[in-house]
Amino acid sequence: MEPGIRHSHFNKKLFGDNFAWGVSTAAFQVEGAHDAHGKGESIWDVFTGKKDKILDGHHAQIACDFYNQYENDIDLIKQLNIPNFRFSISWTRILPNGTGATNQEGIAYYNRVIDYCLQKGIEPWVTLYHWDLPHELELKGGWTNRDIVDWFTAYVKICAEHFGDRVKYWMIMNEPAVFTGAGYFLGIHAPGRTGLKSFLPAIHHTVLSIAAGANALRAILPSAQIGTTFSCSFIEPYSGKARDINAAKRVDAIINRLFIEPVLGLGYPIDDAPILKNIKKYFLPGDEEQLSFDFDFIGIQNYTREIVKYSVFTPYISASLVKAENRKVPLTQMKWEVYPPAIYQMIKKFNAYPGIKKLLITENGAAFPDVVADGKINDVLRIEYLETHLAQVLKAKSDGYKADGYFVWTLTDNFEWAEGYHPRFGLIYVDFDTQQRIVKSSGHWYARFLKG
Ligand code: BGC
Repeated sequence: MEPGIRHSHFNKKLFGDNFAWGVSTAAFQVEGAHDAHGKGESIWDVFTGKKDKILDGHHAQIACDFYNQYENDIDLIKQLNIPNFRFSISWTRILPNGTGATNQEGIAYYNRVIDYCLQKGIEPWVTLYHWDLPHELELKGGWTNRDIVDWFTAYVKICAEHFGDRVKYWMIMNEPAVFTGAGYFLGIHAPGRTGLKSFLPAIHHTVLSIAAGANALRAILPSAQIGTTFSCSFIEPYSGKARDINAAKRVDAIINRLFIEPVLGLGYPIDDAPILKNIKKYFLPGDEEQLSFDFDFIGIQNYTREIVKYSVFTPYISASLVKAENRKVPLTQMKWEVYPPAIYQMIKKFNAYPGIKKLLITENGAAFPDVVADGKINDVLRIEYLETHLAQVLKAKSDGYKADGYFVWTLTDNFEWAEGYHPRFGLIYVDFDTQQRIVKSSGHWYARFLKG
């Protein structure tokens, strides 16, 4: 199937009865209420307060006000016929300082959200860490401090104990490659650290924490479905020249393989990613055996493909991305190429790993500059994006690959990290001055599709 070709005659039934359909969000991007009811500061609260970090100085103190409007937003999920809702828990609502005393009001809030989902017949899927590390822990080194394995595990246990009687589906972390890469190497996300001395220990402690957190969850909730999620982009070399092919291999190792491979017991892809060559410095005896966990499912999150070129100027990896803007290809508002076969390629790639029991697409979606006209948002490009990507998921399933679910990113327009409120990814439009919601045409399209 060619990119962009629509499959208008396909329907939900073709994906089978056990396919999980959903929508995903993340606490920091939607909740707001940044200091309500005992919540502590996260690294994103601090980072958004710094100058020149976020486009136009946007912050997320109010965001979509999901903290106060969750009933309304869950009603909208219901109205859109979406059976599964993936959201994350904010660590600092539960433990304002990251460790120590729990905040009962934070626990009560997530109890209300979970109970309301269940009351509406919506299955809650909980992500335990979607990037909002407690600031107090960052002051002690954050992900670069090995103690974080214990801090994180203690937090996971509290969540399991309080919510595990009702939450069946858990994801330990969201996209470790993005929060370590952007936050501890490039410095463009919180906490804004740079360099290998931050990046390498952050990677290793994150992998140890994924496994330790999952083990803790399993011990408390033996019948829970436990997963974790990874970002991935289809990587292709700019040319058939060996140096471009090798550059693409290095980038693929960092972007797509860095976390899934140790988690599956295959170790870090050091041979293909020389940037990792000193990671063993951060190992303690026995660590090799502490990196993996037998997950019930793996979530992959794909948005685009990247074209990679050899570059003598790029330190550590001697490779650079050829910007989609310069490639004369269709773009989203993030300037990411719209390339539906990427999701097929990623499903295929992850299927090649032994040991993945179930594979779900836990995020896919697109930002476009939506306009309100006569109170409506006719976002045809987003509908086309979702349909063409779903067609590729279906193609992968028909070709015999595992693909067990699909979650749209995202429910409402929200705070898109360093890009602030500019990119609009939602199925539902948000007027950030009034907090008014308007279901976009894509939301109506998803609702019809899910109705069958
Ligand atoms: C993240 C989301 C983000 C989305 C779009 C993923 O990297 O999990 O938090 O908003 O992609 O950039």
